[in-house]
Amino acid sequence: MLGLGEQSLVGVEVDKSRRIDIDKLREALEAHGTSRDIFCVVATAGTTSTGSVDPIAPIADLCRELGIWLHVDGAYGLAYKLVPEWKNLFAGIQEADSVSWDPHKQLAVPIPCSVLFCRRNGDFGRMAYHSSYFNREDSPEPNPGTKSAPTTRPLAALALVTSIVHQGLFGLTQRLKAPLAAVKEAARYLENQPDMELLNWPDTGILCFRVMGPGLQKNRLDALQKRIYDGIIKDGKRSISISQIGDKTALRLVAISTLVTFEALKETIREVRAISKTV
Ligand SMILES: Cc1ncc(COP(=O)(O)O)c(C=O)c1O
Repeated sequence: MLGLGEQSLVGVEVDKSRRIDIDKLREALEAHGTSRDIFCVVATAGTTSTGSVDPIAPIADLCRELGIWLHVDGAYGLAYKLVPEWKNLFAGIQEADSVSWDPHKQLAVPIPCSVLFCRRNGDFGRMAYHSSYFNREDSPEPNPGTKSAPTTRPLAALALVTSIVHQGLFGLTQRLKAPLAAVKEAARYLENQPDMELLNWPDTGILCFRVMGPGLQKNRLDALQKRIYDGIIKDGKRSISISQIGDKTALRLVAISTLVTFEALKETIREVRAISKTV
């Protein structure tokens, strides 16, 4: 949207937990610091592949020290800040300049329902475009058209508010725990399976792993995961996805529904194992 192009992105190394490595971030920022090329750091609170939550508090301190805008992409993960036991994972998020969140991922609202929080209310004004025929500057009416790139907007907030009122915030936060607990238990289970390799210790509700074939070389192992994935999709009973963790092809379980149980995930792992023996 900003027209910066992918060549304008500077990747930052992650640590073993797949979270931004704060020392590497400092190095990357200081390497560009003198020319002030870098104007924004994007931390992720729940990455797409592994659901990892970057260490937001030290990233926010660094950004403030160097005068850089901090955006936190909480599209997938931010809902889990509502769960008291997970809250600490998001420490420092209130220091971000902007935060995005997709209630359509966990809150049972129709797609799309995305929310953008700005630390300073006035920052929404940067998106405003006024003209003489609409979005008039002197209009006293509240107008979401001046707070976003598109002018004509559906009333997505209505579905969000209705969903929260219907589910009750307390009950909802309790239910959000279920997939997190199920995924953590599945990680513990996978850790003890000699024919499986756990590829991330889950911060939130995403788990990556792979099936180990005895004596298989790297490229054969990668191909095995792809064949297992194809087999599960063809079978059509369960849904699984595939990703790349470092140089390893991984099978990926995403538990979003509040009804997901460890038993259900174990059943999927059983099916993965069964398919791995046939492909
Ligand atoms: C971390 C993160 N950011 C952004 C997105 C984009 O989501 P959407 O296109 O649904 O807004 C996703 C999708 O899974 C995501 O995981």
